[in-house]
Amino acid sequence: MKHRRCTPVVLLGTGMSVPDRILTNKDLEKIVDTSDEWILERTGISERRIAPAGEVTSDLAARAGMAALDAASVSPEELDMIIVGTNSPDKLFPGVGPMVQSMIGASRAGACDVQAGCTGCVYAMMLASSGIRAGFWKKVLVIGAEALSRIVDWKDRNTCVLFGDGAGAALLGAGEGEDGVLAAEVHADGSLSDYIELPGGLAAHPATNETVEQGLHFVKMKGNEVFKYVNRVIPPFVRDLCDHAGLEVGDIDAWIFHQANHRIIEGVMRRLDVPLQKAVINLQKYGNTSAASVFLALHEGLAEGRITRGDRVMLVSFGAGMTYGAMIIRI
Ligand code: UT7
Repeated sequence: MKHRRCTPVVLLGTGMSVPDRILTNKDLEKIVDTSDEWILERTGISERRIAPAGEVTSDLAARAGMAALDAASVSPEELDMIIVGTNSPDKLFPGVGPMVQSMIGASRAGACDVQAGCTGCVYAMMLASSGIRAGFWKKVLVIGAEALSRIVDWKDRNTCVLFGDGAGAALLGAGEGEDGVLAAEVHADGSLSDYIELPGGLAAHPATNETVEQGLHFVKMKGNEVFKYVNRVIPPFVRDLCDHAGLEVGDIDAWIFHQANHRIIEGVMRRLDVPLQKAVINLQKYGNTSAASVFLALHEGLAEGRITRGDRVMLVSFGAGMTYGAMIIRI
């Protein structure tokens, strides 16, 4: 068969949406046995956003998606596909993708969700760019969206201080000239599935009074195990990805990590011997927004001029599965 050149992928625009309500560390001191000092020192988080009653993941996702379309002057009818990374969908089904499709009036677009823990952002970006490269789609709206405040246990200080609500989006399109996606890779290790999980309410533990009493419908996380795992696997992984792209780690202009913990970002950058200033960090304002966090940091990095046209940007995430993945994209 005649070899056909892959269609180049370009980033056309980004957007984000977070709820107005701010929950500070001081506010959390009144809810669980914690302190502003502990949260700041162990995570770097100062505050997070909480969606008001009645606002769901698809509301945040649709607003972020529209912002990305507006930034690129692209209308919803031009979209071929919508892919949403989320771990806190409105309902198990239908997914957030079809809700967004209808809310924004993307009349021609297919739509689905990707559930891959916090790494859903990178999986979704990789699926979108693969579909564009193959010629299936010309314009794909990729969204990371979470209403995690609905699925955390507000009595569990190990988790409730970490997470926040929000959505971010990236519009990818078929371009001309050079491909913007320089390298991408994803991994999974399901043998570590108990590191981060929401065990109850589905096939493994159908909802009963007992599952509710045991709080199985809330996020459970072995935070310290995750912390050690991530610090071990991520530095060699991103170094290898640079290698595959024919780049040195020093050639990356901006690093966008999953915004889980300042200490993780610092530790990885130190191991790579890259100045921390090259990392875009906004977790102090939004906490860990899971599949949305990389999109929030990418959007703010661009909006604040920290990332400019031509920059090589590394997007890195890790989360439930365990999964991890990264993409190097030229803006
Ligand atoms: O988004 C998906 C990926 N997730 C992550 O990347 C999370 C990775 N993990 C982390 O960021 C960190 O492990 C945490 C921030 C979750 C925890 O920090 P840590 O330094 O690993 O603390 P730890 O879990 O080892 O707990 C240390 C102590 C414990 O007390 P004892 O047993 O030493 O007396 C905890 O009970 O801190 C205690 N602790 C708290 N104290 C005050 C745990 N949570 C809190 C809290 N406030 N909110």
